[in-house]
Amino acid sequence: MKCTNRISEKSLNFRLYRIIYEFPFHDAVYRRKDVKQMAELNKVSVDDLKVTGKRVLVRVDFNVPMKDGVITNDNRIQAALPTINKLVSEGAKVILCSHLGKPKNGPEEKFSLKAAAARLAELVSAKVTFVPSDVVVDDTVRTAVDKMQNGEIVVLENTRFRKEETKNIESFSKDLASIADAFVMDAFGSAHRAHCSTVGVTEFVKETAVGYLMQKEIKFLGNAVENPVRPFVAILGGAKVADKLNVISNLLEKCDTLIIGGGMAYTFLKAQVLFSLMRQYVPCGRAGEYPEIDRPLSDEEYDEAEQYLFDSGIEDGFVQEKGSASDAFIPAFDGTGVV
Ligand code: 3PG
Repeated sequence: MKCTNRISEKSLNFRLYRIIYEFPFHDAVYRRKDVKQMAELNKVSVDDLKVTGKRVLVRVDFNVPMKDGVITNDNRIQAALPTINKLVSEGAKVILCSHLGKPKNGPEEKFSLKAAAARLAELVSAKVTFVPSDVVVDDTVRTAVDKMQNGEIVVLENTRFRKEETKNIESFSKDLASIADAFVMDAFGSAHRAHCSTVGVTEFVKETAVGYLMQKEIKFLGNAVENPVRPFVAILGGAKVADKLNVISNLLEKCDTLIIGGGMAYTFLKAQVLFSLMRQYVPCGRAGEYPEIDRPLSDEEYDEAEQYLFDSGIEDGFVQEKGSASDAFIPAFDGTGVV
């Protein structure tokens, strides 16, 4: 179908922007009534490992906020301490690995884990050695690991300095595994990533377990999701929708209300508007309820809208019901004991 009306001076995005911000709510609120149960989460714990004298590689999340090379919040380092201290106290040789930021072109000073290792050294009683290898695992690292005494800590350089990391390529997973007798996953913030240091390495290390932070979060989430106090309201934030769609789909099966805030709320709102526009204005000709767009979409706008929706991964019908945030908030939270 050919649509002849065109927006001359303003782009579709600009018009949609106005529509989005003029909606009577700024968080997208979705509801589903059908709730299913999920199987229990069972994982081998760090408590199940015999670690004395063993090289234990721990994936932590030391992706701390930094400003001018200074850590501005060390919560993530603090959160990793229970597992680290437990392994140290049992005489393990503790080798820590983590990513920091999103280095795009290999090693960069500003993404080094040096400052995180220095902060860790202030927080633990054990000896901490940072090995600044641009390839994360090399002979200097192997030598440092060979020299470790029981109860000491070695911190590796940013795992994302290796290109293979985010692609989960075997060569780096094997390098990591080559310096470990056991692997402990304690990076809850990175547990959704299938990277060498979170997933790939487990293929090549004999013993694997989850640390205390992971256990705590799994228990908390497990209980919250399996046996929720109802009404069960989940709140999700973040910037990127695409990698959260599976989580959202799973949560929709379990919770009474899912509230999406943060940057990604706008992606949903935009998608919602686009679906609505595509339904109402293709075929052309109908004046609609949106004062901003009272004419058919042009072919280019339609294509642009379609591409946007394809990229976002959001499907028509995903949004089950909408209303003002406060209308949905109040009944959803009524009687909720734990938020
Ligand atoms: C986070 O900060 O959310 C985690 O450390 C994961 O970081 P990432 O989004 O860069 O993988």
